[in-house]
Amino acid sequence: MEDVKREIEELKQKIRYHDYRYYVLNAPVISDYEYDQMMRRLKSLEEKYPQFITPDSPTQRVGGKPLEKFKKVKHKIPMFSLEDAFSPEEVREFDRRVKRFLNLPSEKDISYSVEPKFDGLSISLIYENGILKQASTRGDGVTGEDVTQNVRTIKNVPLKLITEKAPAYLDIQGEAIMFKQDFAKINKEREEAGLPLFANPRNAAAGSIRQLDPRETAKRNLRMFTYSIREVSSEIQFKTQSEALELLKKWGLPVNELNKLCASVEEAIEYKETFTQKRHELPYEIDGMVFKVNEIDYQNRLGHTTKSPRWAIAYKFPPEQVTTTVKEVKVNVGRTGILTPVAILEPVNIGGVVVSKATLHTWDEIRKKDIRIGDRVFVERAGDVIPEIIKPISEKRTGKERIIPEPKECPVCHAHAIRDGLYFRCPNISCPAQIKESIKHFASKRAMNIEGLGDKLVEQLVEKNIIKDIADIYNLDIKTVANLERMGEKSAQNLIEAIENTKNISLAKFLFALGIRHVGEHTAHLLAKYFGSLKNIEKAKKEEFLSIKGIGEEVAQSIYDFFREQKNIQTIKKLLKAGIKPSEEKVVISPLSGKSFLFTGTLRTMTRSEAKDRVEALGGIVKNSVSKDLDYVVVGENPGSKRDKAERLGLNCIDEETFIKLLSK
Ligand code: IVH
Repeated sequence: MEDVKREIEELKQKIRYHDYRYYVLNAPVISDYEYDQMMRRLKSLEEKYPQFITPDSPTQRVGGKPLEKFKKVKHKIPMFSLEDAFSPEEVREFDRRVKRFLNLPSEKDISYSVEPKFDGLSISLIYENGILKQASTRGDGVTGEDVTQNVRTIKNVPLKLITEKAPAYLDIQGEAIMFKQDFAKINKEREEAGLPLFANPRNAAAGSIRQLDPRETAKRNLRMFTYSIREVSSEIQFKTQSEALELLKKWGLPVNELNKLCASVEEAIEYKETFTQKRHELPYEIDGMVFKVNEIDYQNRLGHTTKSPRWAIAYKFPPEQVTTTVKEVKVNVGRTGILTPVAILEPVNIGGVVVSKATLHTWDEIRKKDIRIGDRVFVERAGDVIPEIIKPISEKRTGKERIIPEPKECPVCHAHAIRDGLYFRCPNISCPAQIKESIKHFASKRAMNIEGLGDKLVEQLVEKNIIKDIADIYNLDIKTVANLERMGEKSAQNLIEAIENTKNISLAKFLFALGIRHVGEHTAHLLAKYFGSLKNIEKAKKEEFLSIKGIGEEVAQSIYDFFREQKNIQTIKKLLKAGIKPSEEKVVISPLSGKSFLFTGTLRTMTRSEAKDRVEALGGIVKNSVSKDLDYVVVGENPGSKRDKAERLGLNCIDEETFIKLLSK
């Protein structure tokens, strides 16, 4: 027993170190394979000896049940915000103020720690004896929300500090952010799944931290940068902010590598200016640089006002922001019927791009910002993100501005708009706007890939009533198409040919093309792989969808509902009748075909996921829990309690060697 306990401890320590190498230093020293081996060994030991599982184990990042709501946390020390500066002059004024306050001669140079100002969500992290105990949002600075479960899923946040002598108590501040790349990926998936998009990485990070289900947060791939020691027990002493950053680093916390100690305000300004361009090349968004008086002694003497510390200032980059007028607000109808308010603007140039539209996201947001038609507004464009209205300039109001009403009906088909959580929705699945969008999606490259069926053509076809749903695409003939605007005999012929060529499509692509809400490419693949045929999916119960790893409640419900809708069933029938053959995934005839497997313990010659892939490639199914109907239980080294259960049920237990023979039969 002691041996097991020691091995578990060693594994945890090793994995922690390699997480640190990988996620904090970006410098792994082992291969993914070696890492996976360790993780699997730890998991299997913990499965067998659950009494040794501790909350700081690397296996316990994503755990716990979805919450009903977040607990409120009163911060022991308030979480301040920062004063802003927008010009070198304002920063020099700040520097003079600091010296006056400290009674220092004006010619004395003060050193500053200059750090990127991350555009994310501020988090306080409390470690007790090195163990992460609580993470909370800033909230209003006095009271925040307990988001511990979610912050634990952020991979570069250590659950346990890497140090022999961890402080008894430690409260630090950091910023949870989403990298630009992850932001783009998540928005693409949302678009494909017919969900509203996040306006910028900051909103996406905030939305992810505020998920009640930690498994959802885990999928969002957030990162943390820590930058402040808010409080630490007295055995730890440091004299400067740069020493504090060194301590954070030493404990294995993620600290940004662009932080720099500058000997004077002029040096600090110079360093900041180098980021005006460079910031666009960083993998995450920053909106300025924070200048912090480096000496802690000075910081203490300076103290803070009610809102912000007197020892720091955020020197912001010039915002890519302009003012313009909201001419009107249109309502956009998405593929799944979501209604989005779009502001039509007096065209204006922002950083070289002419902007004439901005999304307003939701009517709640409009009300919160109090934007009205006719308002003069601030508009911002961050990177390649959709332009956004920041706020109205209420001082410029004339009284003629009009409130933006919530939609009563769909602007296109006039169906009564229904409220659906944060959004309004057009409930009419025959709505021409939804039809246009769903046809565009159906024809798109990653779906059916119908070359030549572009957006403009789809619009014409729907407006002229030539096609009323996706299935009508297959009734098009050369003559009809050739008569359309900007079309001719040759292009019509090419289009019909392209349509013809889509008839043998893979099941996954077909499912994706149907445009089921929440079903992006990845989910479509999971469904195709699990069910193998459209028929099986049509008759599946919601629970079956839920049993697929990677499919959650909302997604399962959406798929289930889709196949209960008569209109959808009819469209699918029409498609099949037109000759589309979603190819059922190849089911190889092998002795494993249709047989179910369960693995317990560590395999010597392959990883679990390799084993799973190989079974599935031969038409077998891999299950995660023991049940009577299992065909094989493959027992590796150090099997868990599942083996005992399997033996009790009298199941067919085989060893790795037999399993490998089975694979090659
Ligand atoms: S120091 C006592 N450093 O900016 C104040 N803040 O506008 C501690 N922020 O609430 C803040 N990067 O969320 C500090 N390197 C950095 C930062 C940073 C981003 C955020 C933080 C703060 C907000 C103030």
